[in-house]
Parts: sequence; structure tokens; C-alpha cells
Amino acid sequence: MPNAYISGTGYYVPPRSVTNDDLRTQYGIDTTHEWIHQRTGIEARRFADAGVSTSDLGVEAAKKAIARAGIAPTDLDMIVFATLSPDQCFPGCGVYLQQKLGVCDGPNPKFVPALDVRNQCSGFLYSLGTATSMVQSGACKHVLVVGAEIHSAAIDLTTRGRTVSSLFGDGAGAVIVSATEEDRGIRTWKLGADGRFADALQQQVWDIKQRPFLPQDAQGYGHVPPEMMWAKMDGKVVFKNAIERMIMVLMEACMSAGCTGNDIDLFVFHQANMRINQYIQNTLGIPDEKIVHNIQRYGNTTAATIPILLAEAEESGKLKRGMKVAMTAFGSGFTWGSVIADW
Ligand code: ACO
Repeated sequence: MPNAYISGTGYYVPPRSVTNDDLRTQYGIDTTHEWIHQRTGIEARRFADAGVSTSDLGVEAAKKAIARAGIAPTDLDMIVFATLSPDQCFPGCGVYLQQKLGVCDGPNPKFVPALDVRNQCSGFLYSLGTATSMVQSGACKHVLVVGAEIHSAAIDLTTRGRTVSSLFGDGAGAVIVSATEEDRGIRTWKLGADGRFADALQQQVWDIKQRPFLPQDAQGYGHVPPEMMWAKMDGKVVFKNAIERMIMVLMEACMSAGCTGNDIDLFVFHQANMRINQYIQNTLGIPDEKIVHNIQRYGNTTAATIPILLAEAEESGKLKRGMKVAMTAFGSGFTWGSVIADW
């Protein structure tokens, strides 16, 4: 059985940075930098301009990961795209990404499978586990895994929606999972879900139980009422469960990989809230130099968070060959996961 390792990383964030003060001055939201920063650690987030889609962000991140892996788009055997903010209802972002990468063009077109994963903040780790199994089984040599989100288009940027909208930002990250005979790579992945909390963080948009699935106006056009349009979150329930599940699944993954927390050189946690991560860091006694954050600059970028962090850590030299890395995430569903890799 070949090992599966991450042979390339890349990320892309839109250029427009929106600070906490900008939410107040540009969007008219009744908030303050202090409220948001004290509770979440967020100072700014990136917002993509109108006209930019989630797969547009994803393709920029993917091109960098492909280049760093030293392969061509036509070397890919599969695409896995994690997002909760796809370009449209269907088809998924994976096929748009495939189209934009030109995998099907040229003299040697390749019609590789493209899979979309809908697991919110855990989506990247669910995708990484899937890609790892595809490579270890021998079915694929190179799998592109992308996490990308455009939240700015689908959050309520008014005072009414401030509890949720102040948390999220746009961005994309990508990795290539490749086969190797070397003794390195992804050692274990642990994933979980608790559907009893499916409504604790959700965005309904439509109701498929109704006929038709959206309320209609007098002309027969569907419209989405505000209570269905925007994400709803029970923040305190999310906070409590995130801490418990992230610690639990990280320990489970360490046990499965035959290591302890002390053996981990770099912890890469999902960035939902700095206070969640600081609580976990303090509980497990993780020193500051072993953990990376970007919530200050990007807010919560959901499926994009962990691949952005990996790419940034590689670029800055903080993540190097031979290091043992622990990635852990928790999100809507509730869903969670942890992956241990020897870089
Ligand atoms: N600016 C100013 N005031 C605000 C804002 C804001 N942006 N948002 C909410 N408030 C107000 C509320 O209206 C409320 O006012 P009221 O008391 O007059 O009704 C007050 O602040 C307190 O609101 P709470 O929602 O109770 O605030 P809380 O202390 O719970 O903090 C927060 C909210 C930061 C979201 C917290 O619950 C949290 O961190 N939860 C974790 C959830 C999370 O991180 N989710 C991210 C997405 S999920 C994921 O990625 C795992």
C-alpha cells in the first residue's frame, strides 16, 4: 500500500480586507472592534467582490498547489472540492474547477472524477481523509483537495445579522495528496458527526418539503424570506461542543497514530474563534510556537481555513519536511475531524 503525503499547498484570498471598524462604517452595522476582537480574536476578513465565484478562488489556490507539487493539471486523478458556499445549487464546484484548470482541454484531456463535499468547517478534513484513502488504495496517484468559501455574499451584513456576519470571511486553500513509497505522509484520519445538533448552525435557504420549495409571490416567482435566507447559530452550544469534540478527536487521532500531543511539532486548528483555540491550547499545554493562527486576518473561512494555514506555514518556513502535524476541525452538523501527518 503506498503512503499518501501532501506534495503541494497553495492559497488565495481576495485582496479586499474589511476591518471590524469597516463593518460599522461601510456596512452600517451597530458593532465595535472591541466587541468582535474580545470575543473572537478577529481584526479583519477578506471579502470577494461581486462577479467572483467560489470556484474562481479555488482555482487560484489549486494552481499554486499544483505548481508546488511539480505536476501538471492533467496529472491529477481526482478533484475533491469542500465548500458550504458553492457557485450555485448544482452542479458542484468540482466540475467548474476542473473546467477552469483545463484538465479536459489540450491534446491529452483527462476526464477525472470531481467530488463536492458538504461538511462545512470540517469539510477539508473529510476531503483529506477521502483523498488519502483514494491514494492508499492505489486508485489515484495525485488528488487535488480544495477548500474554498465565499461567505460575504450570503451573510446578513446588517445589525440584525451581526452575531454571525462578523465571524466569517472569504478565501481558498488547496493541497495535492500524492502517492509515495517513502515512509512519510498522512498517518491517520479520524472523522465524526452528531446529527442531533444539525440545527444548531444552519442556513436553510429553501424548504424541500413545500410544493414548490420556495414561497411564491403573485407572479409565481419564488422568493426567500429573511428567516430562511441567513445562517442561524446557537453560538454558546457551538462553542461548548467545539471545545469538547476538538480535544476528543485530536486525542483519538494521536492514539491511532501512536503518538502523544508532545510529539506534535505543529497544531493546525480550524479558526472559528480564537477563544475556542486558546481554551484547547491551554487545556492541552500547547506552547505558542507550536500553533498557527490566521483568524485575526481572515476570520472564519470554514473549509478553506486549514489548507490556507498549511500553505501559509509552508511559505513562512514554519512548516518543514519531517515535522509531525496535527490538523483538527469542528463545524456545523455537528461534524469534526483530525488528521496526523508526517510532513
Ligand atoms: N457587535 C456588537 N454586539 C453584538 C454583536 C456584534 N458583532 N453580535 C452580537 N452582539 C450582541 C447581541 O445582540 C447580544 O446583545 P443583547 O444582550 O442586547 O441581546 C450580546 O451582544 C450578546 O450576544 P451573544 O450572542 O450572547 O454573545 P456571546 O457572548 O455568546 O458571543 C459569539 C457570540 C462570539 C458568536 C460566541 O457565541 C461564540 O464564539 N460562539 C462560538 C461559535 C463560533 O465560533 N461560530 C463560528 C462558526 S462555527 C464553526 O466554525 C465551528
